[in-house]
Amino acid sequence: MNSNVDEQTPGFPVLEDLLSCWLKGCFAKAFPEGGAENAGAVTATGNPAFGDFQCNDAMPLAKTLRLPPRKIAEKVVENASLPGVVKKLEVAGPGFINITLEDSFVAERAAALASDEHACVPQCGSGQTVVIDYSSPNVAKPMHIGHIRSTVIGAALDNLHRALGFRVIADNHIGDWGTQFGIIIMGFRHFVDKDKLAEAPASELERVYVASYAKAKDDEAWMNQCRAELVKLQQGDPENRALWQEFIRLSQVEFDRVYGRLEVHFDITRGESYYHEALAGVVERLEKAGLARESDGATIVDLSDEDLGVCIVRKSDGAFNYATTDIATVDSRVREFSPSKIIYVTDERQQLHFKQFFNICRKVDIAPDSTELMHVWFGLMRLPEGTFSTRQGNVIKLEALLDEAESRAMTVIKSGRPDMPEDEAKVLAAQIGIGAVKYADLSQDPRTLITFTWDKALSLEGNSGPYLQYAYARICSVRAKYSEQFPGIDPDAYPLILAESIERELSFKLAMFPSTVKKAALTYRPCVLADYLYDLSQTYSSFYQRVPFLKAEESVRESRIRLCGLVALVLSKGLGLLGIETPERI
Ligand code: ARG
Repeated sequence: MNSNVDEQTPGFPVLEDLLSCWLKGCFAKAFPEGGAENAGAVTATGNPAFGDFQCNDAMPLAKTLRLPPRKIAEKVVENASLPGVVKKLEVAGPGFINITLEDSFVAERAAALASDEHACVPQCGSGQTVVIDYSSPNVAKPMHIGHIRSTVIGAALDNLHRALGFRVIADNHIGDWGTQFGIIIMGFRHFVDKDKLAEAPASELERVYVASYAKAKDDEAWMNQCRAELVKLQQGDPENRALWQEFIRLSQVEFDRVYGRLEVHFDITRGESYYHEALAGVVERLEKAGLARESDGATIVDLSDEDLGVCIVRKSDGAFNYATTDIATVDSRVREFSPSKIIYVTDERQQLHFKQFFNICRKVDIAPDSTELMHVWFGLMRLPEGTFSTRQGNVIKLEALLDEAESRAMTVIKSGRPDMPEDEAKVLAAQIGIGAVKYADLSQDPRTLITFTWDKALSLEGNSGPYLQYAYARICSVRAKYSEQFPGIDPDAYPLILAESIERELSFKLAMFPSTVKKAALTYRPCVLADYLYDLSQTYSSFYQRVPFLKAEESVRESRIRLCGLVALVLSKGLGLLGIETPERI
């Protein structure tokens, strides 16, 4: 192994991979008679006292090799030849192998972040396509805060995959073809208020939907009429078609406004209706494969043997289902894009649905083995007041949430910087407010139910978006002060000196950025990156407090200013991947 790894691999392999590859060789060398082939994986220790990385593989090998784990670890360490980049290899505790890197190598890896166009993020997705299906709101219902998680998590996974070199097709699978349209058409015909429709179309559509839905609940004739309108629409009735198209148009205007504010972009927006023509063929295919069969007039796929219940693919009234559309969608995506994965981001309540149609797609080879199907589900977001549901009509609309985020951010800005020009303050309030909402979501494990509170989201002290933005802006101002005091000197032309332990610690954390991005993407957990950025900013804080910057002697000073620049780079790249902007002045 040499440290000039970019000669061998396109881009930089992440540190874990580099070291694991070497340590695997050490295990093999220590046990030439076999049994230790798969050992050697390393992870960061998280505690400088134990070195930079550790390998715990001696423990599970004890049985196979019939040796105490500590003996195994010792044998590996005794037989290992250290590459130039490793300073120390030691056995600790019951059989851990701890690895400490050379300072010069740590400095080299930290510095490389600025010179590599991908900030050393490995291009492991290059040549592969992923389709990410996210946001996907429903027509004629305003987006509410329940949609925020799919949009924000989906957009982060989208950015993270692009950073790894994947070709990403971000597809907004709008719900424009569901059973709700019968209900909305009836509501629209009987209850619509033309003035309100002109004023706030999405809210008015929602209002008529809620009214019609409520009526359908205790009025069977109404319910039947709704169903009939739906079938008419699906069979191409011109009047219902025209209404439906108008609903889509009006809704899309609202969605686009929200995406504009969130700075989320899709490559394609294919609603469920896009697949309409293919649905009959899908059902036929399932029948031919012997998977689907008739049951009480409906067509079903019985998956109860696998504990996945029954999936209805055509209802007794002839209408197709959500699942049928999703099967047709996989088929279309596989044919058109040959993706290595299709990722879906929705809330946890849809888990069974995804398991069912994934299972069906595999069985009839609509999803070939080369296409992984992944449902990334998340817990619901609550405000302390409770949850939200369109049907009960008490939604907190996403736009209202964003408005409030911006106005609260504005208050904070005004109190700290009363002199800031209005225009500048407005832009900043949007960057901070929206960043706060996104970060509050992304900093949590997707699978947890999150309770959103303004105090936490906008806090300048804790683990929040504004805190990280503020940290970034402070570093920019340190760099600006340096340029003022030492005009014409380029600190980045000086070597990094890691004399103080805090400098070493900070550089090591910087060097961990590439593998953090990889891990966040491949585990579908943007929170891995958020945690890392918060941790990095805290280490930066100690660095700032513990050592002088501008008052240090020449070259130590430049090295520190250069480190500041690298932290700023990583914060801004990392927050950028989470969809959060980094203004230079706050
Ligand atoms: N429109 C659905 C909803 O709001 C989400 C669609 C997710 N994507 C999919 N291919 N099923 O619940």
